[in-house]
Amino acid sequence: MRATTPDRADAPARPDDEGRERIQKVLARAGFGSRRACEQLIAAGRVTVDGALARLGDRADPDDQRLAVDGVPVITRPGLVYYLLNKPPQVVTTAQDPQGRPTVVELVPEEPRVFPVGRLDFETEGLLLLTNDGELAQLLTHPSHGVEKTYLAEVTGAVEPGVIRALRNGVDLDDGRTAPARVHVVQSGPDRSAIELTIHEGRNRQVRRMCAAVGLTVHRLVRTHLGSLHDSRLAPGTWRALRPAEVRTLYKLALETAPGDAQPSH
Ligand code: URA
Repeated sequence: MRATTPDRADAPARPDDEGRERIQKVLARAGFGSRRACEQLIAAGRVTVDGALARLGDRADPDDQRLAVDGVPVITRPGLVYYLLNKPPQVVTTAQDPQGRPTVVELVPEEPRVFPVGRLDFETEGLLLLTNDGELAQLLTHPSHGVEKTYLAEVTGAVEPGVIRALRNGVDLDDGRTAPARVHVVQSGPDRSAIELTIHEGRNRQVRRMCAAVGLTVHRLVRTHLGSLHDSRLAPGTWRALRPAEVRTLYKLALETAPGDAQPSH
């Protein structure tokens, strides 16, 4: 099946009367390289429009149709923004706070309105994604699966090997046993230690509760990696827009980790 209306090779590249543009132009704008490179993607059968294979010369409406490369959606809808924020402590991860505390949305541009994907506690620091892309947010926050997140927990006292083993294997919390986690000691001392934990669940205050369950007191918690996202140069309280390739990688990861019922319907 043809994806869209074919086009003569010598036809102009601007949108036609129905807002359809050459697919290579849409892909190039979305960060897939030069138009020539995008033509090669189409010729190789890696591009679909609304689920149908695209061919060279096809046009598509980027506002209305769903383009995908290798099955991963291409972000063509106008107005979608993706901000990576380094959340400082003592900021709430909501749009508004009844107690008048500072919120994460106050740290990013006001327009277009964005919302945080998942949450970090009031005291937790580190990487948080804010976007107006509901589809990606839904994929990333699906309760039963989720992309990996890595946290650095600074804790009081020394960390015994048995504690690390317990955290790795899963600990019993009041909402059930945690899934196996990757855990390692970054620094160990008699008074203070630091451990790095990588989990893919997203339960409320999960890392703090896991640490408490094995007798560790957390005095600082920082999210250092969010799926494929990491940026050690982003200062606390500042944000940056994700690059198109970062958004694509995140989509890919989210689609790989989300169960079938969370997949977008296209
Ligand atoms: N786990 C926590 O305990 N707090 C967070 O903010 C995130 C993960």
